[in-house]
Amino acid sequence: MVAAGAALLKELVGMGQGHLVDGWQPGEDEEDKRRLFAQLHALDASITGGLVGYVRRAATLLKESQEGKNPLEGFAPAVPSGHELQLGGPDFLECEATGAAARCGFVVVAGGLGERLGYSGIKLELPPETLTGKPYLQLYAEHVLALQRQQRRTDPNSPLLPLIIMTSEDTDLPTRALIDHLDGMGLDPAQLHVLRQQKVPCLVDSTARLATLPSDRYTLLTKPHGHGDVHALLHSSGLAARLYGEGFTHLAFLQDTNALVFSGLVAAIGLSVRHGLALNTLSVPRRAGDAAGALMQLTGGDGRSILCNVEYNQLSAMLVAAGDSRGDTNDTSGYSPYPGNTNQLVVALELYVASLEASGGVMVEFVNPKYTDATRTAFKSPTRLECMMQDLPWLLPPGAPVSFTVLGAADAYAPVKNALADAAKKAAAGQSPGAASSAEFLVYALNAKLLRLAGAEVEQGSPCSLAGVPCSLGPQVVLTPAFRPTIGAALSRLQGTLRVSARSSLLLDGEIHISHLELDGALKVRAAPGARVTIRRMHLTNKGYVLRELSAAELTDPATSELCRMRGFTYEEAEVREMIFDEPGEHVVDEE
Ligand code: UTP
Repeated sequence: MVAAGAALLKELVGMGQGHLVDGWQPGEDEEDKRRLFAQLHALDASITGGLVGYVRRAATLLKESQEGKNPLEGFAPAVPSGHELQLGGPDFLECEATGAAARCGFVVVAGGLGERLGYSGIKLELPPETLTGKPYLQLYAEHVLALQRQQRRTDPNSPLLPLIIMTSEDTDLPTRALIDHLDGMGLDPAQLHVLRQQKVPCLVDSTARLATLPSDRYTLLTKPHGHGDVHALLHSSGLAARLYGEGFTHLAFLQDTNALVFSGLVAAIGLSVRHGLALNTLSVPRRAGDAAGALMQLTGGDGRSILCNVEYNQLSAMLVAAGDSRGDTNDTSGYSPYPGNTNQLVVALELYVASLEASGGVMVEFVNPKYTDATRTAFKSPTRLECMMQDLPWLLPPGAPVSFTVLGAADAYAPVKNALADAAKKAAAGQSPGAASSAEFLVYALNAKLLRLAGAEVEQGSPCSLAGVPCSLGPQVVLTPAFRPTIGAALSRLQGTLRVSARSSLLLDGEIHISHLELDGALKVRAAPGARVTIRRMHLTNKGYVLRELSAAELTDPATSELCRMRGFTYEEAEVREMIFDEPGEHVVDEE
């Protein structure tokens, strides 16, 4: 290992990396030198194409960046055509039923640092809503288990649905600790897979000189390579091919923080099946200026046409170059004409596995240095090559059936990306805030919408601003995956009257059917697996939970819990009725 690392260093020095050994004296710091050799060897093994290949690619990309070359130069953009589904509509429900029966594995990419959010832990441990306080990871696992239970009702031999988590060096240990803390989230260990992505070396300047730590010249500085690594890992681990061999037909890729994803994903899987799509991106209307990519149909000079994501930092320049001087702007609908990429993808395993075999899963890489001046030579801080999972269309063979499925803006996408103060600034600029608070209210709003679609009268809340982030206050409604394995199942749970006032909190967890419920306060109903609860008649009024905005002092006080500080509000419990049915069998609630 050490000898191989030393040989590698020699090769790198021959390629212009002489600064790495500047001032080295024989017999000095030998232990430290061996450390560097070992690191070089490990990086060489983990990087597709090895370290030398990486440095060569970096040199080319940095030169192109210095020359201001746009990798998408020569491609003409057009608004792509795809599919649209109305949440809960007949077509949606049909697709969803197909998707719910599909043999699909779920992949969560969770290697990101979450620097914009600034949370001290991993994002997967955050609760998307505070009524249950359950972490994202638990929510995703419950959705997978709920789908699996539904499949096993019709086919007891149907396989365990895999949940695959991609971690990184930054998130791996805490993610494993979270899985242990949650007792494996109820998953069979055979269906849970953790793949760890490795970091890649950073580069100091446009000549692609490798960076070392400021405090330690014998350690290369490394940073994450981006979520695009997920494809190479699914290939190198053999997992994608194995699942395909076991009869799985699709993989669905999720982000670490999107509590609404399963509202649209299952229907998108069904739509993929229906149209034989190799790749289907879950899309929502995009506001101009949002830090989210746009889906575009690009046609190159050679006539090749590809439906792919264009990142937000390239979008305006591309549109202007194509003759649209307005750049990234909204049309009369209030949204950009280019559908937004939520980075939730459904891929068909057959073509995916074949493409991974052909390419090794190596994604298109890019570099995004922040230059110190117009000479575009020196960087403000070392940069690295990155890759994105949504660049998959470039890996698929030309002509592969690639499309997207658009749902309503607030029906399938509520990511948590930004710290509260930044979210407030974004909102003021007309962009999506992507804060923990706005995302939490989107969860309640979506669940309230589902109840309305099922015929319930759920009072609308009033719009307000919490710590500068616009939020639409309404009832806190949480319908857990066990209540709503699919949207179709959720809609069938209400057979009579349900009235919920705007100040109410309602948690429905498990197989619960409602014939008559009037709620003005807080109610939590939990039915364990195997228990079937019918609320025949119930009229509940209590003091409930009361939302309180944090004061400016509380927002900066370390004594305030981090989860509250990142939201800017807290719900205080005044009075809650909790009903737990943990015995299997029929239960009826009749309180008139
Ligand atoms: P984001 O764009 O939200 O980036 O990642 P991030 O790194 O998490 O957050 P910032 O930019 O530092 O604020 C989108 C998804 O891709 C995953 C994230 O965990 C998230 O689910 N990701 C990102 C990876 O898995 N690996 C990476 O190297 C980067």
